[in-house]
Amino acid sequence: MHSILYISTARAPLSEKELAQVLQISRRNNARCDVTGLLVVGGRRFLQALEGPEEAVRATFERISRDPRHFAVVILADKPIAERNFARWSMGFEKGADAGSDQSLQDQLAGIIAPIQDRNLQAYFAGFVKSHGSKTAA
Ligand SMILES: Cc1cc2nc3c(=O)[nH]c(=O)nc-3n(C[C@H](O)[C@H](O)[C@H](O)COP(=O)(O)O)c2cc1C
Repeated sequence: MHSILYISTARAPLSEKELAQVLQISRRNNARCDVTGLLVVGGRRFLQALEGPEEAVRATFERISRDPRHFAVVILADKPIAERNFARWSMGFEKGADAGSDQSLQDQLAGIIAPIQDRNLQAYFAGFVKSHGSKTAA
């Protein structure tokens, strides 16, 4: 089992309708290739975790990273995992805060994950951001 976590920036903020479309297509495609994960949107920032069989995760990530709707894709983690963290979701979705672009990357990530409702999930992402702080601080 493999996992990739990345952040990116939308070229233009996605409308509710556009976001719903991205989620619909993501869930359909991911279900087909056994990929699960979570997408957090905060203003123009995306934070997404993808997990599943390594080849499927890489192929999905490659496709996503070529999507012209976002840019500045930065991988925060690319590693094997013992078990899934988001087994229930072909692609879960959470709304984060609208993080200002003048903040450091770490501050932005903290802002994005702060409003996540599920405490376990929030702790997971918070731990993640903390452990990668030195690499991701802008
Ligand atoms: C922030 C973001 C996250 C996305 N996440 C996924 C995803 O998890 N799975 C997926 O298949 N496509 C995802 N997409 C869409 C892909 O970039 C691409 O448009 C889509 O996979 C093409 O699918 P299709 O060839 O079936 O139309 C995402 C796009 C964006 C902008």
